[in-house]
Amino acid sequence: MARSKQAKSAGGKTPDAITLLKADHRQVEDWFEQFEKARDTDRKQELATNICEALKVHATIEEEIFYPAFLEATDETDIHHEAEVEHNGAKKLIAEIEESSPDDEYFDAKVKVLSEMIKHHVKEEEKPGGMFAEARDSDMDLEALGERLAALKAELESGTVDDDETPTPRGQKERAQPGRMAKGSR
Ligand SMILES: [Fe+2]
Ligand SMILES: [Fe+2]
Repeated sequence: MARSKQAKSAGGKTPDAITLLKADHRQVEDWFEQFEKARDTDRKQELATNICEALKVHATIEEEIFYPAFLEATDETDIHHEAEVEHNGAKKLIAEIEESSPDDEYFDAKVKVLSEMIKHHVKEEEKPGGMFAEARDSDMDLEALGERLAALKAELESGTVDDDETPTPRGQKERAQPGRMAKGSR
């Protein structure tokens, strides 16, 4: 029964959850590639800002909506926890990059290492047997989740989200939410 939901495409204006998350991955990969080629300081700053903002939004929509739904549907604790730990590592480096600038001797190195961390993390999410494959095999309603992801993403991008408004799924209280931290604080 759950399988048939995924095939449904009636009214399909919003991509399903995995299509949406993968599109985010491709966008950030493209910016990382452009960063590697960039020589101009302003361009590097612009790309780094785009990358950091996009990754924070992406991490937040995964952590608040997709990851809890994944854990609930699959009980794949190891996959879930490793993904969260990888997010936390990436967020620390994102915060450092945001406090830094292309004039900083270590700026390029930080962006490069972030790209490597993200490359690894994305591979874990997208590989056979990884989170997205397991999610497709589960009875998760990926269409409905796609709509929720898109809605929260739009809110975060427009900076209108109030922390109190978003539902707090289980297990979130004890965790810092760095995905939310630097909104508008640059
Ligand atoms: Fe992701
Ligand atoms: Fe992720």
